[in-house]
Amino acid sequence: MRTAADVVEADLDYIARRLSEDFAGMAGKRLLIVGGGGFLGYYLVQSALHWNRIGAAAPISVTVFDNYIRGVPVWLTALEGDPNLTLRRHDITDPLPDDIGDMDFVIHAASIASPTYYRRYPIETMDANVNGLRRLLDYALAQKAAGKPLTGFLFYSTSEIYGDPTPENIPTPETYRGNVSCTGPRACYDESKRYGETLCVNFAAAHGLPITIARPFNNYGPGLKITDRRVLPDFARDIFAGRDIVMLSDGAPTRTFCYIADAIVGYYRIMTRGRPGEAYNIGIEAPEISMATLADKVTEIARARFGYAGRVVRRESEESAYLVDNPNRRCPVIAKARAELGYDPSIGVDEGLTRALIWYSGNQVAEEA
Ligand SMILES: NC(=O)c1ccc[n+]([C@@H]2O[C@H](COP(=O)([O-])OP(=O)(O)OC[C@H]3O[C@@H](n4cnc5c(N)ncnc54)[C@H](O)[C@@H]3O)[C@@H](O)[C@H]2O)c1
Repeated sequence: MRTAADVVEADLDYIARRLSEDFAGMAGKRLLIVGGGGFLGYYLVQSALHWNRIGAAAPISVTVFDNYIRGVPVWLTALEGDPNLTLRRHDITDPLPDDIGDMDFVIHAASIASPTYYRRYPIETMDANVNGLRRLLDYALAQKAAGKPLTGFLFYSTSEIYGDPTPENIPTPETYRGNVSCTGPRACYDESKRYGETLCVNFAAAHGLPITIARPFNNYGPGLKITDRRVLPDFARDIFAGRDIVMLSDGAPTRTFCYIADAIVGYYRIMTRGRPGEAYNIGIEAPEISMATLADKVTEIARARFGYAGRVVRRESEESAYLVDNPNRRCPVIAKARAELGYDPSIGVDEGLTRALIWYSGNQVAEEA
């Protein structure tokens, strides 16, 4: 793979191949992706449209609702004109449009996920995860009452609902209850996701709705904007500006990094195969690497591929809350998703980082301030 377009094409093929049964079951159906203009939306939207092009008996009809709080992404504008895609500017905390129609599948991915940005928009973040979710759950309920029940509903929670796990709870299974501050600078995100999960579990149980929950663990790769202020895009920004890579922690916190193409397979599988009212960890178990190792790996790849000549330097973040409540370790147990969904991530961190950097080499446009 040499260009960003090669990476995207290979990833979309990989996703469509692994989801062939799941997408076949969605053929001719209507899928609403709320927050479809974001990082996860990038492949959630494009993989369904890719499937329509390469193998669908009947196309999946995709509708995206997004308030574009940080601008309209160019990749989405470029898809305008696809007959199976409808784009609509809509804030999910507002009442749903009267003409929303009969959806078969709903994905709620509308929430700000970058710590820098959810601290800047804490109320909006909570509202999207609680009030926005409630609107979609009420829609699912109304559709059932009208004799047009949804087939699948996926709510995006987060691995952050576990907070900073105690050492014996790392790697972390779904049964761990979490160690979370309800008032700290990350609480707007963590706690609204926790309450969102409670809403989902109770709507599923009380009303027999097919509601499922994803807990993503550190996804990275194409679609994650270079301006997002998450760790990998920050490194990529430094690399392609020809600057030294700036690390804003001491480099010790560890994570496992799950390449986005693997994660997307997991997310669709939760919606099509998951048990109602259940939450599934989606990530990768190994390797668990420190931020310092991540920076070294990225530097090495950039040196070999792009002739990068910089090095890694340490600096304090200008944001005082940057590291407050930042967990020291994050690593999932994914046995439940493996057993129940056949989830089987296969793209290792060196390959994934290479693909991500190739993608950034062709996608360095900042879309918002
Ligand atoms: N990317 C990850 O590694 C990760 C990890 C854990 C959880 N998640 C969750 O997955 C979901 C998607 O994450 P992402 O990385 O794509 O985030 P993102 O910030 O890139 O995208 C979110 C999208 O939602 C939209 N949005 C925000 N508030 C909205 C509102 N009120 N109404 C309509 N649209 C709104 C934004 O405009 C944006 O396009 C989020 O719920 C996030 O919390 C992601």
